Amino acid sequence: MPGKTEAASTATPGDHLEIKDSRTGKSYTVPITDDTIRTADLRQIKVKDEDFGMMGYDPAFMNTASCRSAITYIDGDKGILRYRGYPIDQLSEKASFLEVAWLLRKGELPTQAEYDQFTHDITFHTYVHENIKQFMEGFRYDAHPMSMLTAGIAALSSFYPTAKNIHDPRERDIAFIRLLAKMPTIAAFAYRHVKGMPYVYPDNALPYAENFLSMIARMSEPRYEAHPAYARAIDVLFILHADHEQNCSTSAVRAVGSSHVDPYSAVAAGIAALYGPLHGGANEAVLRMLTEIGDPKNIPAFIENVKNGEGEARLMGFGHRVYKSYDPRATIVKKLCDDVLKVSGSNKDMDIALELERIALSDEYFIKRKLYPNVDFYTGLIYQAMKFPTDYFTVLFAIARTSGWVAQWEEMLLDKEQKIARPRQIFTGHGERKYKSTLNYSHTIKK
Ligand code: CMC
Repeated sequence: MPGKTEAASTATPGDHLEIKDSRTGKSYTVPITDDTIRTADLRQIKVKDEDFGMMGYDPAFMNTASCRSAITYIDGDKGILRYRGYPIDQLSEKASFLEVAWLLRKGELPTQAEYDQFTHDITFHTYVHENIKQFMEGFRYDAHPMSMLTAGIAALSSFYPTAKNIHDPRERDIAFIRLLAKMPTIAAFAYRHVKGMPYVYPDNALPYAENFLSMIARMSEPRYEAHPAYARAIDVLFILHADHEQNCSTSAVRAVGSSHVDPYSAVAAGIAALYGPLHGGANEAVLRMLTEIGDPKNIPAFIENVKNGEGEARLMGFGHRVYKSYDPRATIVKKLCDDVLKVSGSNKDMDIALELERIALSDEYFIKRKLYPNVDFYTGLIYQAMKFPTDYFTVLFAIARTSGWVAQWEEMLLDKEQKIARPRQIFTGHGERKYKSTLNYSHTIKK
C-alpha cells in the first residue's frame, strides 16, 4: 500500500466522491484529498434528521489513516522503507543510531556540532536515580524483562514530574534525551536482575551501543570492550527498528499520548504493546519455533501443520500487515546475521531458518498470500548468537523504537488536527432491560 505522501499527486482540487444512499435516494458529495476521504464527512448521510449519521467501520484500522505523518514512508508492495526520505539501506550502512534518532525527531540530519552536542547530552543522562535500581530489585528472579522495562519506564514519569508540561519544548527535549539515554540502562538492569548479577553502571566514555553491551556483559574488568562486529550489529539493528510508521505500539503511544499524559507514560504504553507476540514478541516466537522444529528434516511436516492449522499455527517471522513483498529490513538483517555468525560460529537454528525460508518461498500457500520473511525472522538468530536470552529480544527492539515513539508522539502533539483518541463503536449488545438481581447482598450491602 503506497503511503499517502506519494499518492497525493493523484488528487486535484475539486476531486470528490459522489455517494447515493439507496435508503433515501439522496446524493452526497464528499471531497477527496490525498486519495482519502474524511469519514467525518459521511456524518451528513442520514435517514432521519435525528440520526447520528453514517460512520466508517474499520476494525484494526486496516484502511483508515489516523494521522498525517512526515516521519516514515513505507511502500509495502515495493518493499520500500524510508525515514524522513532516506532509504533504510543507506542509513543502516552509513549512519549511527543516534544520528537516526535525531533525524526521526528533527526531520533533518544533524550537523557535526548538533550531533556532538546530542551525543554528549545522551551520554550525560545515562545514569538513573538509585531508587530505580532498588525498584528493579523488587521484581521476582524470573520476571519477564519486558514487564520490568514497561514498569521501569512508566516509573520515570514519577522521577521527572515536570515532563507533564508537554507544551514546553524544553521539557520535550529533555524527555527525549532522558528516554533514549536511560532506556539502555534500565534494560540492562533488567537483564542483570534475571541473571542474578550486580547491575553495571553506564560507562560514559563508550559510544551508545558499546555502553549498552558493557552494562550487559561487564564483570570485574575495568573496561568492557565489545567485539566491534557485535557493537555494529546492535547499532544497525537499532536503526532498522527505530520507526515503522503507524504500527501497533506507535499507535498505542499516539493514542495514550493524545490524552496529554507525560511522554514516559505514553512510551510505557508503547512498550506494553510491543511485548505482544504478533508485534515485537515475534523474534522471540521465531526462536521458539526453530527450537520446536529442531532439525531441517522436520520442516516439511511443520509447514504442513501451519498450512492446515486453520489460522492458529503460523510461520513466525513471516507475513506483515504492510509488506506484501520481502521486508527491506529482512534483507539487511540476513546479511548482518552472516557477519555475526562469522564471529560467534555457525548455528543449527540458522540452517533450519534458511531451509524454512527456501521451502516457504516456493510454497503456493505462502506465495498466494504474499507471505515473506519480515525483520524478525533473522534478528532472533543474531541476538541468540550474541548470547541474549530469548525473552530479552523484544527489549532490544524497544530500546530502538523509543526514538520513533517519541518522534511520533511529538508530531501528534504538535498536529493541530489531533484530539484525544476516541474511536466510535457499533453497539451490538442488549437494548434497555430492567435490573433484577439473583444475588443475596444482605450481608455486605445495607439498602
Ligand atoms: N504463517 C502462516 N499463515 C499466515 C501468516 C504466517 N506467519 N501470516 C498470515 N498468514 C495467513 C493467514 O492465516 C491468512 O490466511 P487466510 O487468508 O487463508 O485466512 C492470510 O495469511 C492473511 O493473514 P492476516 O492475519 O489477515 O494478515 P495480517 O495482516 O492481519 O497479519 C501479521 C500480519 C504480521 C500479524 C501476520 O502475518 C502474522 O501473524 N505473522 C507472524 C507473526 C510475526 O512474524 N509478526 C512480526 C511482524 S513484523 C514486526 C513488526 O513490525 O511488528
